[in-house]
Amino acid sequence: MRAKRLLLLLPLIAAPFVLPAQTTLRQVADQRRLLLGSAAQAGEFGGANLLAEVPYATTLSTHFNLLEGENAMKWSPIHPDPTRYNFTGADRLAAFAREQKMKLRGHTLLWHSSNPTWLSDQAKTATPQAMAATLKQHIDTVVGRYKGQIFAWDVVNEAVSDTATANGTLLRDSIWNNQPGIGLAGTAYIEQAFRWAHEADPDALLFYNDYSIEGPGGKFSAVLNMVRDFVARGVPIHGVGFQMHVTSSGYPDSAGLRQNFQAIAALGLQIHITEMDVRLPVTNGVASEANLAAQAATYSRILTICLQTPACTALQTWGFTDKYSWIPGFFTGFGAALPFDVLYQPKPAVAAMINTFQSVAPTLSSNGIVNAASYRGGAVAPGELITIFGATYGPATIVGAALDSNGLVSSNLASTRVLFDGVAAPLIYSLTGQVSAVVPYEVAGRQQTSVEYEFNGVRSAPVQVNVVATAPAIFAADATGSGPGLILTPGYTVITTADPAPVGSVVIVLATGAGSVVGGAKTGGIAQGIGQQSAAITATIGGMNADIAYAGPAPGLVNGVLQVNLTVPKALSAGIYPVVITVGGVRTQDGVTIAVR
Ligand code: XIL
Repeated sequence: MRAKRLLLLLPLIAAPFVLPAQTTLRQVADQRRLLLGSAAQAGEFGGANLLAEVPYATTLSTHFNLLEGENAMKWSPIHPDPTRYNFTGADRLAAFAREQKMKLRGHTLLWHSSNPTWLSDQAKTATPQAMAATLKQHIDTVVGRYKGQIFAWDVVNEAVSDTATANGTLLRDSIWNNQPGIGLAGTAYIEQAFRWAHEADPDALLFYNDYSIEGPGGKFSAVLNMVRDFVARGVPIHGVGFQMHVTSSGYPDSAGLRQNFQAIAALGLQIHITEMDVRLPVTNGVASEANLAAQAATYSRILTICLQTPACTALQTWGFTDKYSWIPGFFTGFGAALPFDVLYQPKPAVAAMINTFQSVAPTLSSNGIVNAASYRGGAVAPGELITIFGATYGPATIVGAALDSNGLVSSNLASTRVLFDGVAAPLIYSLTGQVSAVVPYEVAGRQQTSVEYEFNGVRSAPVQVNVVATAPAIFAADATGSGPGLILTPGYTVITTADPAPVGSVVIVLATGAGSVVGGAKTGGIAQGIGQQSAAITATIGGMNADIAYAGPAPGLVNGVLQVNLTVPKALSAGIYPVVITVGGVRTQDGVTIAVR
């Protein structure tokens, strides 16, 4: 009896205890679509391959989605002799990134430092022509080897002088610039390196990387002038790397950093924070609690500014564990600069960054709100399927529509919501940076609607969008907004150029933005039968009027999808023709076609 009782109690006693899942930096960075990276060491300079140290590798892959060799791709380790390359460390990093599904940055192809002795020696007697040949061969070889694996390169590192000013770029003396240089005056030698890197991997993003450019001043102005000139002349440059080796004393000032980021973003360039660390005064390697708190605040402050700047697409720390950091060796009396301590335990900076990722409001802009079929922006219509681009806080992988308990298309998808005048709209899918919703029919008759985007309870500032009666567009078969339309046969197969629609046959065109339905349609409801749009509808194929057999809700699909059954004009000959539907006097987008036979 007793034994039996105990047995009955066992499931209670031994109830599986589920450890609360620890949120990782990588998870929240993925939800923000931010590349969060770290420099890593893989055995260059005769040092240990840290990737073989389990807690090192685990912490790196658990918390980061981006990786860069701290030294492995610099000239000295990768090109140790004039005719010999050593890819050991760089290959290890590339393999690790591949296995752990992390992105890989390359650092660096042209720098005054970390050059092998043979190269410095060569520079003493070589002609600029010979130096140019050496540089080109190096860039070809290294960029070529990691083509398709390295998505972004620091092509040129630290070429601008610390005493540079706005009036003309002042360049640092170096073997590549003027000692003897590669035979190109001014910034032309930098430009040449970008052009060679671009030839070696046309798909890689190419960055100019430097320090002490985080605040306004002569050096930043010089860099800005240089990259502005490059952009204006079509030099292949895609971004500026801000190293961000800082202390917690206040540099860079937030306003100045935002200003510099805006200036770079205005050129259409990306921003990567490439080498962040926040060094602290240490005694025997140990920092005070107050300083660790100040450090956490600094990491959080810089991350906040990056998250609030759409052009800031990556933030990388220069190592991640205080066990391996360049700081103690280069800044006497300083250390403890990274987010994890020497035992790989998260320091206050980690919680601060996770909290920042989870609390900074996603930005929403009215030009990111577009018709889901045409991607045209502007005013929205009741029932229109729209897509919102650029609100970067959401599910890291796409989540598709679901029905709620009332049989309506759910307005909360993986904690994403889109609100119109405070009311959550049905969602078609959600993915960070791209969410699709149905404009509630309730906006009909209003002049404007206030749109807000929300993820995990964190809401964007509202954006006002004008409301119109109709904003029609035809879905494209490949969801690009144009080309062959999403047009079906009566048997629901998609009409293609390989399988054109016969003249005289009926085809089914799928569209959205046709506005209200006679008798009303339930927002988020699934169309059960046929109905009629409030607005008048006409259609042409190849400019000829096409008879409409039906125009209204698409049975079985969410209210807001318009189905138009057209007869392909008999007078057409075989060919590819534009399809245009006019709803309430407004035409669908140009460029949608149907193949006819
Ligand atoms: C540093 C590495 O961290 C050290 O291990 C190495 O001895 C010297 O270089 N700016 C840069 C980085 O662009 O390449 C430097 O890295 C730090 C400053």
